[in-house]
Amino acid sequence: MQERGTFGRLGFVLAAAGSAIGLGNIWKFPYITYANEGGTFVLIYLVAIVAFGAPIMFAEILIGRNTTQSPVSAFSALSSSLQKSKAWVLTGWLGIAAGFVILSYYSVVAGWTIYYFGKCMTWSFNGFGPEQAANLGKDFGAFLGNGPLQILFHALFMGATMGVVILGVKGGIERSTKILMPVLFSILVLLCGTSIFTPGFGDAIGFLFHIGPLSADAILEAVGHAFFTLSLGMGAMITYGSYVSKKDSILKASFQVCLLDTVIAIMACVIMFSIIFSVPEAERATTFSKSATILFTTLPRMFYELPGGAILSPIFYLLVGFAALSSTISLMEVVVAYFIDEKGWARKKATLLVGGGIFLFGIPSALSLGASEFFSNAKILGDKSTGIFETMDYLASNWLLPVGGLLTALFVGWALPNAFTQAELEEGHGPFPYHAAWKFLLRFICPIGILCVIWNVA
Ligand code: PHE
Repeated sequence: MQERGTFGRLGFVLAAAGSAIGLGNIWKFPYITYANEGGTFVLIYLVAIVAFGAPIMFAEILIGRNTTQSPVSAFSALSSSLQKSKAWVLTGWLGIAAGFVILSYYSVVAGWTIYYFGKCMTWSFNGFGPEQAANLGKDFGAFLGNGPLQILFHALFMGATMGVVILGVKGGIERSTKILMPVLFSILVLLCGTSIFTPGFGDAIGFLFHIGPLSADAILEAVGHAFFTLSLGMGAMITYGSYVSKKDSILKASFQVCLLDTVIAIMACVIMFSIIFSVPEAERATTFSKSATILFTTLPRMFYELPGGAILSPIFYLLVGFAALSSTISLMEVVVAYFIDEKGWARKKATLLVGGGIFLFGIPSALSLGASEFFSNAKILGDKSTGIFETMDYLASNWLLPVGGLLTALFVGWALPNAFTQAELEEGHGPFPYHAAWKFLLRFICPIGILCVIWNVA
């Protein structure tokens, strides 16, 4: 077997936060919140983070650290040493499938951040006036419809991810997140501070925190997003957990990751909705479609009104790209670690083959936002989603991740003995008096909750 690395204490929190914080927070959460009318959707999402997210994150990191294995090997090692059914290994497989699917379309969106970095550079040099502001939506649509550009930026992003994953845990992943995350956070704080002075700020806050009706589909989406945003239900946290030292507290690290992730998602919403609600209601619908585009059609307006915005805007998209990179790294690492741990492949070979395969699999998604009529209109799942991109996201976030999370909760809740889980959580932490309550959540609340949600939409 290849030598495995370990994370330093801060390195782990930042790498795990790096995995969690990404396009899910800054691109996806604002647009699905906008599409689902805010308030109640946000509330369900917050409940899902506390009731399902945090307990399952403890569970995943525990599995990884205890076995020092990636998901498939971890589930098979634990189930054979504790004489449990071999079938649990399916959970690991499901995770690898989810990683593969998510990375294939995630990398397409991540590529957009590089393109927008370039676009902002042009605006910063050539000027950004009312005409550019009015054309933001149209320009973005044209970019989405340009097939070769979509594939090019998808390829660039997959290449960057492979470059870091080849360097391995310590050299690549830990080092890059340690620098980038704090800078991204500072820019978000600055933008949030600025948004207070926009005319739409009050309405944005009202929209985020009002209570209204919500469909069963929207509830599934909120729960699915809680898994997506915390990188849960697919073994990413098991894989990262396998690099955590026994001296570190799983509980503390998980809590910090959940908190940071949630704060950043809410901040991204405040910033974007303040801009959206600053536009008169009559124009809003035509200016901002309730779709995957809002990150790219809202923010340039704010930036170029800010002093220093010409410098901040390219930096911002670059950093969102880096946040996406620390997530794509973790997605790829799950699949790559499988081939290293189970098949004994060298890291380089595993990365090149896995990366190449995911790139090819992502091409239909890249072409399904306008470039190809066929891929853009494909309705593989009937009315649930239109186009390959949306279908992949729907499948992964609303099904693969919640089901993966459900199986993990059942495994750690029922199959792992109490003495075992308690000892593992207390290692590096000290006494954990809430162990029984946590087990109760994993045994009953998470499975029943996730099943109810799935039942309602199936
Ligand atoms: N959590 C990441 C984000 O919010 C996406 C991701 C999902 C990463 C699953 C790894 C595993 O952008």
